[in-house]
Amino acid sequence: MASLIDGKKIAKRLTHEVAADVIDFVEQTGTRPTLAVVLLGDDPASCVYVARKLAACREIGITSVEHRLPSTTSQFGLFSLIDQLNSDPAVHGILVQLPLPHGLDPSTILDRIDPRKDVDGFHPVNFGRLSSGTDALVPCTPLGCMMLLESVVHNFKGLHAVVIGKSNIVGKPISLLLLERACTVTITHKLTRNLPDITRSAEIVVVAAGHPELVKGNWIKANAVVVDVGISRVSGPDGRPRLVGDCARQELSHARAITPVPGGVGPMTVACLLANTVRAALKQHRAQPTLRRA
Ligand code: GUN
Repeated sequence: MASLIDGKKIAKRLTHEVAADVIDFVEQTGTRPTLAVVLLGDDPASCVYVARKLAACREIGITSVEHRLPSTTSQFGLFSLIDQLNSDPAVHGILVQLPLPHGLDPSTILDRIDPRKDVDGFHPVNFGRLSSGTDALVPCTPLGCMMLLESVVHNFKGLHAVVIGKSNIVGKPISLLLLERACTVTITHKLTRNLPDITRSAEIVVVAAGHPELVKGNWIKANAVVVDVGISRVSGPDGRPRLVGDCARQELSHARAITPVPGGVGPMTVACLLANTVRAALKQHRAQPTLRRA
């Protein structure tokens, strides 16, 4: 029987560690790590995610400041808020919740964020650093996926890892992280031919396709480790809504380990945001001469 990788437990452990780092940071600097969260409009899912992020910050003493703007905000208006946050030394992290309302180009907006404050790791500077294996702020979901994998895989070298999905938020960065650990990585996507043949040869499969129960039992070889990033609400046999991932989990009992949905990747994303915020705060303070001498 495949073991379940308990994302809630691992996220809780990480959150405890970050909470200890927050205490040290406050002692050393006399300031609190601070995250600015920008939300445009009132997309219900985004409101829920943002509320979760703000609550998680509060729980461990990270100051979080929410900036809610109307969905009609112009690029110029959003730029001026981002510029103000970039130049505020009391703000260490900036997160602009995606998706943005129609008419705003996410990559133009994300490029405006100071890369040192880019706790989402979406800025091209951080993406470039991740690609070259140097010190980057890494996107939260792939960072969390790696931690989940590390809880069951002790030596990544030479393993075949197949990633399903090529998004900038998950597919590409997780592929780079796996490559950095010396996996042989295959990135697949909607137009990949013979996808089940490819996944069947993998020791690690990371699925971020956004397609409920895409991955069937016969796509996965025995003892593979599977990370399921997808989360979709579908109607169950009784007509009631239920949450499912991108894997038909009940068919994957021959896998070595798999992340559940919910309770797998989701909790890790928020915990990694806290970790990135404290990391960004530490780096910004270390860059200041008084602390550099300490
Ligand atoms: N929308 C869905 N996931 C994310 C995320 O990780 N960061 C941001 N900023 N928006 C999102």
